Amino acid sequence: MAPLDPEADAEALHAVYGDPEVMAWWTRPATASVAGTRRLLAEESERRGAALWTVRAGNGTVVGVAGLLGAVEIPGLTWILARHAWGQGFATEAAAAVVEHAFAHDGLERVEAWVEADNARSLAVCRRLGMVRRGMLAQHYAHREGPHEVVVWGLANPRKEQNPPPVLHVEPMLPVADVAATLEVLRSVLSARVAFSVGDPVEVAGLVLGPWSVGPSIRIVTAPRSQSAPVTLALDVGTGLDDLYRRAADSGVGRVEPPIEQPWGVREFVFQLPEGHRLVFGAPA
Ligand SMILES: CC(C)(COP(=O)(O)OP(=O)(O)OC[C@H]1O[C@@H](n2cnc3c(N)ncnc32)[C@H](O)[C@@H]1OP(=O)(O)O)[C@@H](O)C(=O)NCCC(=O)NCCS
Repeated sequence: MAPLDPEADAEALHAVYGDPEVMAWWTRPATASVAGTRRLLAEESERRGAALWTVRAGNGTVVGVAGLLGAVEIPGLTWILARHAWGQGFATEAAAAVVEHAFAHDGLERVEAWVEADNARSLAVCRRLGMVRRGMLAQHYAHREGPHEVVVWGLANPRKEQNPPPVLHVEPMLPVADVAATLEVLRSVLSARVAFSVGDPVEVAGLVLGPWSVGPSIRIVTAPRSQSAPVTLALDVGTGLDDLYRRAADSGVGRVEPPIEQPWGVREFVFQLPEGHRLVFGAPA
């Protein structure tokens, strides 16, 4: 690997950044010319904190780029290879060298990789590096039609002391008049799993918004209407906003306001429960 030189390397790397198949998951579309590739490489290299290297095959041919992204809050790994170079271990080897440099030389505490949920090859690189899946978020690139889901992977520097996170999870509590009825509506609209329910009739129940034991969750507790001050919950959703909207509207419960685009770049709709609690579902616009 050698430090990336946008001027000198653009020609060889145009086979990578100009290939729509390789660029299918990139933050921008494939470049149309060597000059466009040069501009993209210059922009990516100039970002504060960026450290990019060209990846070369054994015979010295440039086959891709690996390194650390610039202008991100937590240092982020990046990798990309020419299509003909896939399946030979270049990305894993290059990324491992970047990680070693970041930890041993730069002394970074941790690195992340953000990988689109259907980018199977890139997800496999994360696994081979021993990265740990930390969660998911949604992103929307300007050149793509809708938002997509991204898996955030993390790797901590084993040379540094790791403190456990001070908080594992935050669970909002919704006071409602009829816990069982609210549980049923939220369970069906959100495809949620009932983690527990206590009492007959139910007085307290926990919903996990996903198929696993842990995940975003809501606790529902009994309270007379007079004592249940309305709560607003913001729920980040990925690509499923329209499906959720339809399910909320079809539930016939509460009030559903159609999706609108907010000035801060989020498309959202409000599902208001009979008690006045507002569930605001949002995805990148
Ligand atoms: C992501 C990307 C770099 C992964 O490339 P890749 O070739 O699949 O990954 P590696 O270079 O680590 O190669 C791994 C493959 O080589 C094989 N391999 C051969 N020798 C190997 C070795 N010495 N070490 C590791 N793997 C080896 C592995 O078994 C694996 O094979 P498989 O694909 O049949 O499972 C490539 O698909 C790409 O450029 N995608 C487009 C850009 C992109 O999406 N970047 C990431 C955005 S988050």
